Amino acid sequence: MSAPLEGRVALVTGGARGLGFASAQLLQQRGATVVLLDRDPAALDAASAQLNAAHTEVIDVTDPAACEAVVERTASREGALHILVNCAGIAGVNKHVWELSPDEFRSVIEVNLMGTFFMCRAAAQTMVETSGGHGRIINVASMAGKDGNPRASHYSAAKAGIMALTKSLGKELATSGVLANVIAPAVIETDMASAVSPEQLEYMTKLIPMGRLGQPLEVAKLVAFLASDEVSFSTGAVYDISGGRATY
Ligand SMILES: NC(=O)c1ccc[n+]([C@@H]2O[C@H](COP(=O)([O-])OP(=O)(O)OC[C@H]3O[C@@H](n4cnc5c(N)ncnc54)[C@H](O)[C@@H]3O)[C@@H](O)[C@H]2O)c1
Repeated sequence: MSAPLEGRVALVTGGARGLGFASAQLLQQRGATVVLLDRDPAALDAASAQLNAAHTEVIDVTDPAACEAVVERTASREGALHILVNCAGIAGVNKHVWELSPDEFRSVIEVNLMGTFFMCRAAAQTMVETSGGHGRIINVASMAGKDGNPRASHYSAAKAGIMALTKSLGKELATSGVLANVIAPAVIETDMASAVSPEQLEYMTKLIPMGRLGQPLEVAKLVAFLASDEVSFSTGAVYDISGGRATY
């Protein structure tokens, strides 16, 4: 049996590490041609070396022109774009609403929400035109976007925005052959989780009934499923991956 994603071309933002890298690795193992996008050139080189020299591009997803250019370059080099995984994100500082500066709040919205918007905006039409009905957009939100984590209002607001953005996009593309879905993970063991304060990590871990952090591969398996033809009647949907934390 041939690999299920053979012939598919995938862009993965935040692909240099963490959930982006794990997702890219699994997509590649399942046959996709993967392009890793990240703003960290050294980490991108290391990631590419682990992924059979996957193509990489250094981009900042907060730059709409760069997002458009990378989609255009990829589609003309590979002949099509089928899969877009938006993983680039930052957690920002952990402070109460009244302690956050406008810039601290804005920067988290800018990367997580605007970055996801810029990539979806850049890729949607190209995916409709070139994916032959196999278009799959997977945006990465968070449980924080459903629940609102304390001392993470910027991050929670950005992730709630990603869910709403994806629900709208899913409806807009419903008959186009491009599905747009969103995943909402609880805490997953990556560099991002190690960077939050110990108190914040303890708070988030205690909310997980399974009593443990998720692993990047567990998220990658959901991403790969949503990127595949196994999904055909879901779009604009939120997929929780939370060890039981999600209640709605
Ligand atoms: N790890 C978790 O617990 C967790 C939980 C829920 C949701 N998420 C979300 O999953 C996604 C991936 O998280 P992760 O844990 O792998 O994080 P990570 O910090 O390990 O990796 C994020 C990657 O995104 C890149 N990046 C950041 N800003 C960028 C920008 N402006 N342009 C391009 N690249 C940029 C970073 O360089 C990094 O390589 C994020 O959107 C995050 O919010 C993570």
